[in-house]
Amino acid sequence: MKTSSVKELLASEKLLQEVNVKGWVRAFRSNRFIQLNDGSTINNIQCVVDFENTDEALLKRITTGAAISVYGTLVESQGKGQSVEIQVTSIDILGDADPDEVSKTILQPKKHSLELLRQQAHLRVRTNTFSAVMRVRSALSFAVHQYFQQNGFYYVNTPIITGSDAEGAGEMFRVTNFEPNKAPLNEDGEVDYSQDFFGKQTNLTVSGQLEAETYAMGLGKVYTFGPTFRAENSNTTRHLAEFWMIEPEVAFNDLDANMDLSEDFIKYVLQYVLDNCQDDLAFLNDRFVKEDKAKPQAERSEMSLIEKIKFVVDNNFKRVSYTEAIDILRNSKPNKKKKFQFPIDEWGADLQSEHERYLVEKHFKCPVILFDYPANIKAFYMRLNEDGKTVRAMDVLFPGIGEMVGGSQREERLEVLKEKMAALDIEEEELWWYLDTRKFGTAVHSGFGLGFERLVLFTTGMSNIRDVIPFPRTPQNAEF
Ligand code: 4AD
Ligand code: MG
Repeated sequence: MKTSSVKELLASEKLLQEVNVKGWVRAFRSNRFIQLNDGSTINNIQCVVDFENTDEALLKRITTGAAISVYGTLVESQGKGQSVEIQVTSIDILGDADPDEVSKTILQPKKHSLELLRQQAHLRVRTNTFSAVMRVRSALSFAVHQYFQQNGFYYVNTPIITGSDAEGAGEMFRVTNFEPNKAPLNEDGEVDYSQDFFGKQTNLTVSGQLEAETYAMGLGKVYTFGPTFRAENSNTTRHLAEFWMIEPEVAFNDLDANMDLSEDFIKYVLQYVLDNCQDDLAFLNDRFVKEDKAKPQAERSEMSLIEKIKFVVDNNFKRVSYTEAIDILRNSKPNKKKKFQFPIDEWGADLQSEHERYLVEKHFKCPVILFDYPANIKAFYMRLNEDGKTVRAMDVLFPGIGEMVGGSQREERLEVLKEKMAALDIEEEELWWYLDTRKFGTAVHSGFGLGFERLVLFTTGMSNIRDVIPFPRTPQNAEF
């Protein structure tokens, strides 16, 4: 007999058919009602056991966490809240779960803290919250590819191990084949990387942008979607040491076109989730609203999760230059003390997250695209404006999240690029291949990077980035 998924059965209108379903027991009540979940949907299917005619030894093995295979008849449900249930004819135990052991884990059906769930990240996908988050994450990934594929982009896979620091921020994890303390030294007493596996210093990529740029200069429109790594010691609810980034790069696009692309793309993937993840979103929405009610009045959201998502889809992002933003911040009273922790005194200062939050959550109350940042707080590859002091950079800021996207129009003029690299002590030999794109048919081009987990965070209404990736990598934590 074909095994059906719980999702298929709950949507089925063919009553009285004989069915088989496999899954994990979420609960077993009164020796009679099994709540079975197989991961296909947030909903359980109820399986009703004829306990009087069932072997007692078997009944004892139907415990929370056990894997079972159920055969029975699909019938209209007598209980509330579900349309159908299974009248069980037989059950095979596929894998037992000892109740004493289960009681020491998060599989035990009661409310557990998110912190405890993180410590058992290998089991948390069996909870409603995490299975819902991970199904939404999967749908978002699919929507990302769908958007780009429908719009003429090619998917490129840029290297994970690289010899260059794309962001120039020095936040890289080294990749080496040397044994600890046994690395050969050169005459100056420094580690001699010419003897290492790749014959040079290498690291895990912080961004696929530079390689993607070279591909945009041949394929026109490209995107990457892969893991990136940052050795920044940021123990926040928004940072991971390993995260997934989506990086489109488009030949002949200027900054305005780049802003349009980011806005259109984000709206598309959010609409996809609204259309395709209704059950999970309804569950996450309830969860969000409940959590929100428990917060002090001042911190509460004015909207439910679904309203927040729809609001982003339905409204234009506000586009504001860095200079305008600084003026707004200088004249703002963020709180009772009427001061930011880091007051904005001067043009040229980098914005802290309190400033970004103020602009997005208090002032504009919608996603904001900040552009034309001071050159000296942004990466070397961004195109210098005619004013000689700002660059064609853009950050998309989201309520509750902060920076969702960072991007720019790239410096396509060879001489200007070389000058900027020289000013930052970036060796031309290191990036000779990157400079080549500016020698052979250089052209205006732009792109951005979107942190996938920040998008999942916004869409699921979770509050910690560690809770939207299966096995988070953060400082002092790579357990699984
Ligand atoms: O602003 P970032 O550093 O930009 C770049 O890496 C560019 N090379 C992208 C490009 O233009 N192709 O990072 C881009 C985005 C951020 O806006 C943020 O959403 C996310 O990546 N991000 C992180 N997400 C989770 N954990 C971290 N440690 C992150 N650092 C950046
Ligand atoms: Mg950034």
